[in-house]
Amino acid sequence: MTDRYAVIGHPIAHSKSPWIHARFAQETGQDIAYEALLGRLDAFEEDVRQFQAQGGLGLNVTLPFKEQAFAMAHERSPRAEVARAANALRFHQGRIWAENFDGVGLVHDVQHNLGFALEGKRILVLGAGGASRGIVAPLLQCRPCELVVANRTPARADELVRDMAHLGPLAACTWQALRGPFDAIFNATSASLGAALPPLAPGLLQAHGLAYDLMYGKGRTAFLQWAADTTPEARRADGAGMLVEQAAESFAWWRGIRPPTAAVLQALRTPGL
Ligand code: ATR
Repeated sequence: MTDRYAVIGHPIAHSKSPWIHARFAQETGQDIAYEALLGRLDAFEEDVRQFQAQGGLGLNVTLPFKEQAFAMAHERSPRAEVARAANALRFHQGRIWAENFDGVGLVHDVQHNLGFALEGKRILVLGAGGASRGIVAPLLQCRPCELVVANRTPARADELVRDMAHLGPLAACTWQALRGPFDAIFNATSASLGAALPPLAPGLLQAHGLAYDLMYGKGRTAFLQWAADTTPEARRADGAGMLVEQAAESFAWWRGIRPPTAAVLQALRTPGL
């Protein structure tokens, strides 16, 4: 019988995950089916249990369910614990296991695919919501010289730093007090969903630094446009690589084999960011 997996979110129609996992299955010769499930906002846990009862083996979890997925799991990886959110679940012997591959996916994309080493670098993360919580610990593991978190609501950045300061050189800062240059800036706010842009001064990004928007599929976001305008020599990337690499980590966790990602990523990268 074909093993079943899915991605669950709300909305979900736009998700590229079924296509990505179908390619991975093809390339590794694995017999799996992977679908997109529209989770109900008021009945997420029921939807997960139903999928499990029908013989499903694993789920990827996307907005807005990552915290709920974490909360309902019986077993949680250290990565999920730090983020307090799960983006992948595995069902085994009636139990639910939670993982979070968003951060390792991002780091893999930055360091391997983009060839941008983070050790010793000065890093800025914009935002202090769920997306930021998922990436701060893996970024600190790359041993930057400093990681600064800036958020529209400063208290949330302060809380994130309080929770994670034991993991490395982490500081919170208000938008106004930010002083560049940073070698890499990661936009983990949901501002890119609209055309909004955090108030960033020119000179925040190092001339040959990296501007990375975790958002995928929005073309040149306001943040990437800001980087292009103020620091044209800098590199720019959206979250396509992070999406593909976290998918590869999930696939490896479920199937015991890590699929090659280069061809899939090439098909998904937006040219001319
Ligand atoms: P996610 O799980 O995607 O991180 P979230 O937890 O709702 O979602 O967090 C959204 C993040 O984007 C927050 O850091 C939010 O800032 P606040 O904590 O001040 O709300 C940030 N954000 C959303 N819209 C923004 C905007 N227009 N300008 C700046 N930051 C914004």
